[in-house]
Parts: sequence; C-alpha cells; structure tokens
Amino acid sequence: AAKPAPGTGELTFKPIPPNKLDTVIVPNGYDHAVVIRWGDEVVPGAPDFDPYNQTAAAQSRQFGYNNDFVAVVPLDRDYRRALLVVNHEYTNEDLMFPGFTTLDALTPEQRRISLAAHGLSVVEIERVDGTGGWQVVRRGSRRYNRRVTALATKFQLTGPAAGSPLLRTTADPTGTTVIGTLNNCAGGVTPWGTILSGEENFNQYFVGGDAAAAAGADTRARLDRYGITTSTRYPSGNRKWDLVDPRFDLALNPNEANRFGWIVELDPFDPDSRPRKHTALGRFKHEGATAILSKAGHAVLYMGDDERFDYLYKFVSSKPMKKGDPASARRHNLTLLESGTLYVAKFGFTSTVDGTGALPADGGFNGTGQWIPLARDGVSLVPGRTIEDVLIFTRQAGDAVGATKLDRPEDVEANPLTGKVYAALTNNTNRGVGSNPGVDEANPRVRNRHGHVIEITEDGDDNAAETFTWDLFLVCGDPADPAGEVTWFAGYDKTKVSPISCPDNVAFDRFGNLWISTDGNALGSNDGLFAVPLEGPERGHVKQFLTVPLGAETCGPALTGDGRSVFVAVQHPGEITGASFDKPASTWPDGNYARPAVVASWRLDGRAVGA
Ligand code: FEO
Ligand code: CA
Ligand code: CA
Ligand code: CA
Repeated sequence: AAKPAPGTGELTFKPIPPNKLDTVIVPNGYDHAVVIRWGDEVVPGAPDFDPYNQTAAAQSRQFGYNNDFVAVVPLDRDYRRALLVVNHEYTNEDLMFPGFTTLDALTPEQRRISLAAHGLSVVEIERVDGTGGWQVVRRGSRRYNRRVTALATKFQLTGPAAGSPLLRTTADPTGTTVIGTLNNCAGGVTPWGTILSGEENFNQYFVGGDAAAAAGADTRARLDRYGITTSTRYPSGNRKWDLVDPRFDLALNPNEANRFGWIVELDPFDPDSRPRKHTALGRFKHEGATAILSKAGHAVLYMGDDERFDYLYKFVSSKPMKKGDPASARRHNLTLLESGTLYVAKFGFTSTVDGTGALPADGGFNGTGQWIPLARDGVSLVPGRTIEDVLIFTRQAGDAVGATKLDRPEDVEANPLTGKVYAALTNNTNRGVGSNPGVDEANPRVRNRHGHVIEITEDGDDNAAETFTWDLFLVCGDPADPAGEVTWFAGYDKTKVSPISCPDNVAFDRFGNLWISTDGNALGSNDGLFAVPLEGPERGHVKQFLTVPLGAETCGPALTGDGRSVFVAVQHPGEITGASFDKPASTWPDGNYARPAVVASWRLDGRAVGA
C-alpha cells in the first residue's frame, strides 16, 4: 500500500485520565491482552513457569525478565504471523525470588537465573482471529524461537576495534568473541530486517573497579567516565555475579567491561546466527539505535547515550544498502554496520533561556546544529586519539570535540514519512544545579524533572547530512497545574492536552503520528503511552492512550505495519520501595505476584489504532 501523507491520521480516541490503578487501562472502544509474560515458553519444550522452582536452565528457554524494546517483524503480508523480538533489560531479584532477603544472600543458582533472565527473546506470534490481538504460537516447529542470554550466548565483535588489545581477555585472547549481552534497553529494526539492541547501564554488573583503576590515571578516568565504581570493590546494589563467573571481576579481567556498551545486531530470521556487537557504532550507555536510509541509500543510525549531560550520536554506513532478497544482497547488508562514519551532535542556539521552560524572546526553542565526525572507516578524526580510543571510549571523544551535553538522551528515531528525527530527553534533575552545566536553548529547564522532546530536521532532508536545524517539540509536564513547571506543546492549546512526564521510547504509526512511552512519571500517576500528531493543525495535541500498572514503566512501543495493533512492554510492575515477591506492590497480570509482560492493544471496530 502507498504511504499515507503525513498528518492525515487525526487521533480520534478519547484520552484516558492519569491514574494509579494496578492494571492496564486503554481508551473506550479498545481492548488489550497479555501476549507473553516473564517465564512463559520461548524455546519449544521449556518447562512451565514455577516461581518456587526456578532454574537457570529453565530461564534460558523461557521469556526473560523486564521486557523493554519490542519489535513486531511480520512473517507474511497480511500481518497474520510475526516474530516478536523483545529486550530483557535487567532483573529485580527482590521481585523474582520467593523469600528474597538481600542481594548478598542470593544462591549461586539464583545469580545464574538472573544472568539467564537478561538478553533477548525471539518468539513466533499469530493474530487472534477476528481481532487486532496476538498470541504466542503454541504448535509446530517455531523454528525462529530463540533466547539470547547474558549467561551463555556468544557474540562476535566486528569493526575497527574488534581484536584490539583493550578488548582481549584471558578467555578470549583474540578480542573478538564475547559471552552475553547486558542491560539491553531500546532498539530498532533495520531496513534489511535485522534487530538492533542497545547495551545501556552495563557498568552496574562489574566489580573490582578499584583494583582495575590502579593500572593508571588513564584507566581510572575511563572507568569513572563510564560509571564503573573505582572507590570500592562492590558498587552498591551489585548482584555479585563475580561469585559465579569471574569475568565480572575487573580485578581478574580488567578488559571485560570494554566488551559491553555496544549496539548489538541480531538476525531474527537465522536462529543459529551469532549476534554481533558493532564497534564502529561506538561504546557508551547505548539506549538503543534506530535506522533509516539516506537519500543515497546508506544506513543512518540514531543513538542516544542515556546519562545526564551525555550526547546524541549518528552513524552513516560507508556502503549503501542493496535491495531485494537474494542471498548476496543479504550478505552485503549484514556488513553495513561494520564501516562508516560515527558522529556526535553539537547544537547551536539562537536565544537565551531563563531556566523555567518559558519560551525565549524570539518565540521558539530552535537553532542550527552540526554532526561532528569522530571516526570514519577505521580512522580516528579526533586529534591525538587512536581509533580504538574513539570507538571504545567514545564518551571521552565526545568530550574532546565539545559535543552538546543533553538531558539524558533516550530513544531517538526518524519519522519514516518525513525523515525528521525525534529524540526523547527524559529528564535531568541536575541541570543547572551546583557545578553542573546550566541551561541552554536545547535543555531549557533547571532541575528538569519532566523532560522534553527535540525535533531535528536534517539539512536537505537527507538523513546523511552533516548539519541540521532543530526545535523543541515538547517541554513536558502538566500545563493544568498552576504550581507546576512551564510547558510547551509545539504551540498547541495547552488546555486540551494530556499531561506527560519523562518521555523515554518513541515510535511512529503509519500516518506519521508520534507515540511516546514514559518512564518515571514525575507527576505522580502511573507511566503510560501517548500519541501526538507531528504535522497539521493537530500538531502538539498530546493524548494519553494507555497506562501501565503500579510501579511499572511503559516500554516498547511498537505499532504493526497495518496499524491495527499497538504493543507495549510493561516493565518492572511492582518496582516500589519496600515491595518484594512475598509482599508485592503489584499483582499484575495474574493476581498473585507481578510479572513483566508484553501487551497488545487493538480497536474493537478493527480500524487502525489511534486514527
Ligand atoms: Fe533503559 Fe534509558 O532507559
Ligand atoms: Ca530561539
Ligand atoms: Ca529506555
Ligand atoms: Ca528510561
């Protein structure tokens, strides 16, 4: 079908109100259902989930914990069958294990269960007849079904830094093969059909940073810049995986942490393939990566580094994508992320701001910007730094070139209908506080609790451009609260919008509307999913579509290509201080204890969601 013109999908649903209910709420005229939960079968033959008899072997074949990114990759033209690909970002041991007391008291098997509960799942799903709902396929070969874990899955390092001495360990003297992936947060689907997944807060899993830092001032500075604790052996809240696997001990394996913090590429159609970590895309706390093609057909990836005062990145492949399905095109496209140019964003400003979130005097948060190249085809473009320095310690390369320090860049994605890029900056309560950087036009609020969304227009409307213009699309909060922060909804009438706080993940529907899920709603209600037109008279009219249960964060989201279903990942339901498996703060979805799960919602009349 031809692509609809952008802005032609007016959002007709009645927004739901903010709430604190322990369930999923969707608008009138919609329904929803759980598709898959933590512990459900992924690999055919996996044991039934029994929280009282968990094993690492079972978890390695079951759906992992804390589902985050969701992709729905169709297996046919009618969207009757699809592959559901999901990240499992992290574990809540206190909510997973009956009788939990402290992380110190976990058994070795429980630590291995946690390792197995990290990673990704690939699951065949099918449409429920007559609705926009989906269910897991329960019969047949299900040949694509796969678990990728932190416990056992082997990954290949690719690109200019693969094999570097900084990536070698005793177990892997070649510096090319890594076991496991960690803290996989957001991601994307490439135009050639693979899955991208970001390794985000990998620093928390390592111990012995104090011993590793003794190697010298450079090593210490690198560990510090990546948040790996150097003052004590055990960072607070550490899971002590070193007790079951010495690779998590930097005193013994000082380079192991350098092998995490990458973008992973997984081919969901080749269940035997080894997933890869692409060093050409740089190493940082990768929220995720999303891909679009440039005018000349090169792959362009947008990537956020989710930390207060960190950066926004872009990668442009050296080679263009080949179209078509023949094996040679596929082989070629699987190499696209191994060579190219890695850029970091520097924003230019036209106005000063007062720190409240109020519009500057010229009536717009806007300006120009440039993508500063850091490395190209294995050559460092940062004076005085080797290519390994730039790719493995990319944050410090960004520091060296004066990149713009942003309010926690989360998901970043280009609108497939317009090419404009939307970056969720989730919050930064340290902005303008103490010795931290102050406000600028792109980060206009001191103690930014609610976050904002940047819109980037690449020059020449080409995603491979090296310069751009930008504006703030949303400055989030509750405009109806007279004591609240100043907000901005792209100039739309603020009396008519849903309040929104802490944008995290973004997606687009087939009409080019932006869907935004939130993490950490600082307005006090449950997190949720919102939709907002980007073009036309409704631009900026934010409407709340869904809320998730108590203590949960809304992840995903993903809309099917036919528009009939929207998926969200309900991550960490019941993650509330003092709660545990035995004393749950949420009992969603089954009424006993909390289980992270993926939900699909659809419209009862069968038409496109939202429109
Ligand atoms: Fe895992 Fe940046 O959220
Ligand atoms: Ca301005
Ligand atoms: Ca996220
Ligand atoms: Ca987040």
